[in-house]
Amino acid sequence: MAVKFPVKVTTTSQSRLSSVDFNNIPFGKVISDHMFVADFDGKQWTDLRIEPFANLNISPANLALHYGQSIFEGMKATKVHGEPVLFRPEMHARRFNVSAERMCMPQIPEELFVQALKMLVDLDRNWIPAGDDHALYIRPLMFATDEYFGVHTSENYRFLVFTGPVGPYYPKPIKLWVEEVFTRAAQGGAGEAKCAGNYGASLLPAQRAKAAGYDQVMWMDAVEKKYVQEVGTMNLFFVIDGKVVTPATTGTILRGVTRDSFTTLLKEWGYTVEDRLLSIAEIADAYWRGTLQECFGAGTAAVVSHVSEITWRDRKLELPPVDETHRPVGTRLKKHINQLRMGVQPDVHGWLQTCENSGVDMFMEQEVGMVA
Ligand code: COI
Repeated sequence: MAVKFPVKVTTTSQSRLSSVDFNNIPFGKVISDHMFVADFDGKQWTDLRIEPFANLNISPANLALHYGQSIFEGMKATKVHGEPVLFRPEMHARRFNVSAERMCMPQIPEELFVQALKMLVDLDRNWIPAGDDHALYIRPLMFATDEYFGVHTSENYRFLVFTGPVGPYYPKPIKLWVEEVFTRAAQGGAGEAKCAGNYGASLLPAQRAKAAGYDQVMWMDAVEKKYVQEVGTMNLFFVIDGKVVTPATTGTILRGVTRDSFTTLLKEWGYTVEDRLLSIAEIADAYWRGTLQECFGAGTAAVVSHVSEITWRDRKLELPPVDETHRPVGTRLKKHINQLRMGVQPDVHGWLQTCENSGVDMFMEQEVGMVA
């Protein structure tokens, strides 16, 4: 990779790596040593730097805190033959820019986005955990930094990337509640953007579902409350009578990178994949006829998360046990993607990118103690 953007690299002299129990990594709690930071000054991205992970100094009048100009991505890095690899970073960069456009935020050059990830992952490569369902999670985000409390578009922004080793997001099959009171997004809303507000608005319905014994909600469309959308943390796939069906991306759900990868693989493996409107009534009908074979969520964090139960009003749809016999589609996808990310499967699509020549050594300047 040709390194295009100069980045000031300041490394920590007090790595926290030795304090991490890699045999027990809860999702989202462990954060690696460094972060990438860049600032948008109204015209361009400036002051590109990698520095020790530390708290930010933010004004209480920060626009993002009040009006939600805040977007993010979720990605993963693993190791192939000991070398860090990223999964489809350009596709994530493009989606990040789609979110930025929807939230009236500046575009970030794709090459800068990818260079930032590669340098950071290269530097913190020892934080990449080994093993199935384990990876270094990468969290790029952008938020407004203007100090102003009128409802307004910010002129200044910060782009930041940090990482952390993770295990499975859902360690066991999940139970879903079909949500017909709250909705996630309507046509013309921001449902396709990976913006903070979408997740904030999902917390209350998720909390209620958890209190009632479910793991998550299955969102329905906002108008008829009839068509399946997604599960907030992941897209959904159903296997009905041997065909794979995934709800269409009609502007209200996230265009998942994992969703796209799975659709590609399934078609190559000879499955019929239908990307279309899918009603909850059709799913229940398939269940009663005995043709609902599988349901699983697909996402970067979730990878493949099998669904064990779907509750729609007073009807409970219980899905088959999770093994290769009963869930051939979901289990094959999960195995394949894990093996691909560890170099056991050949990368025939060119989805993996190494961090070779990331440039991080070239820009290394000094070490500082931890600030956080
Ligand atoms: C991801 O799958 O990476 C996500 O961003 C979903 C969730 C963890 C917020």
